[in-house]
Amino acid sequence: MMHGTTATALGVRLARRMSAVQPSPTIAITQLANELRRQGKDVIGLSQGEPDFDTPNHVKAAAKAAIDAGQTKYTDVDGTPELKRAIVAKFERENGLRYEPAQISVGTGGKQVLYNALCATLDEGDEVIIPAPYWVSYPDMVRLAGGKPVTVACGEADDFKLTAEALRSAITPRTKWLVLNSPSNPTGAGYSASELRSLADVLLDHPQVMVLTDDMYEHLRYDGWEFTTIAAVEPALFDRVLTCNGVSKAYAMTGWRIGYAGGPTKLIKAMATIQSQSTTNPSSVSQAAAIAALSGPLDFLAERNAVFQERRDLGLKAFNSIEGLGCRKPDGAFYLFPSCAGMIGRRRADGRVIETDVDFATFLLEEANVAVVPGSAFGLAPFFRISFATATERLRLACERIADACGKLG
Ligand SMILES: Cc1ncc(COP(=O)(O)O)c(C=O)c1O
Repeated sequence: MMHGTTATALGVRLARRMSAVQPSPTIAITQLANELRRQGKDVIGLSQGEPDFDTPNHVKAAAKAAIDAGQTKYTDVDGTPELKRAIVAKFERENGLRYEPAQISVGTGGKQVLYNALCATLDEGDEVIIPAPYWVSYPDMVRLAGGKPVTVACGEADDFKLTAEALRSAITPRTKWLVLNSPSNPTGAGYSASELRSLADVLLDHPQVMVLTDDMYEHLRYDGWEFTTIAAVEPALFDRVLTCNGVSKAYAMTGWRIGYAGGPTKLIKAMATIQSQSTTNPSSVSQAAAIAALSGPLDFLAERNAVFQERRDLGLKAFNSIEGLGCRKPDGAFYLFPSCAGMIGRRRADGRVIETDVDFATFLLEEANVAVVPGSAFGLAPFFRISFATATERLRLACERIADACGKLG
């Protein structure tokens, strides 16, 4: 008989792959924020990448109708034919990309789609080029899938974007993927058609490299910045690009968990095989909602983007007027990524010196009660990310508190 002590002695033996993935570097900050909240402090959270708007009513109505119509059963593994048709139409209408339904994959959030693609393609030691700063999940997803993340630092001087030269020198015979994310989480930087063109020219010389483009923030853009995606810029790359997108951010549907991609049939089939042996189809009700989102009106976006742009400008003004901080203007998404280089080496009232952006984020949390994410979590320091998907008045208050706290640094 197995007693508790025997079970403990045997212990839980985790897989080797677990040593390759790190717990999120923001855990300590999140725990501190929670602790301060428990103490009754009014902590303003600017760390969450989630719109504060609600899912549009016509989308909710479609989900309710789907439940009433009995659409509550298993569906095709990687998406219903109706949703795939809506995605095909979206790609053609909005991006000028012509996919067949067999070239479409739908998963439980953009995250699952990306993960499926990496699992389906990476062998031990295969390299994935990830421009830094990057969305936190890319390197760990690559490691979990057995690959090797190759991060390429893209500094402020390059607007946090990958240049053709940097791409060329990062490519090796083992390179399997280049990850592009435009507009970017965490910087909001967006690639223009001509910037994508120059990356495409490099890729044309290296047929072993596929491109995983994460267009999740396509619809959140400002100042008339024009979105385009690499498969549209260079049709000769079409057969080795996976164009990923989802409804989470633009349609304020983070909880519905629907992401999708268009790409080569062989890859899409392999992704479906992985999904069929792990989670099967994404929620049938959410798929019905996603059809309404993708096929329905987009006018609500203009209103929401106007609010986001106002908040972006509020944050930009604040961070560019605090001595020691500086922030470039994002083209899209809902993040600001200010540099805190001018704060490094400064002293807090209790004598502690700010040595890293993690120290700076801790300082903001303790002194200003504002939660932000340090740039090092995204692979580039010393910066910090704030999300402006937060009520305007809260954002304004956060900026005031940050300015006050920074003014007290020695
Ligand atoms: C760049 C980027 N890609 C993908 C995702 C994942 O989206 P989803 O919630 O649909 O899984 C996120 C979410 O934060 C993101 O920022």
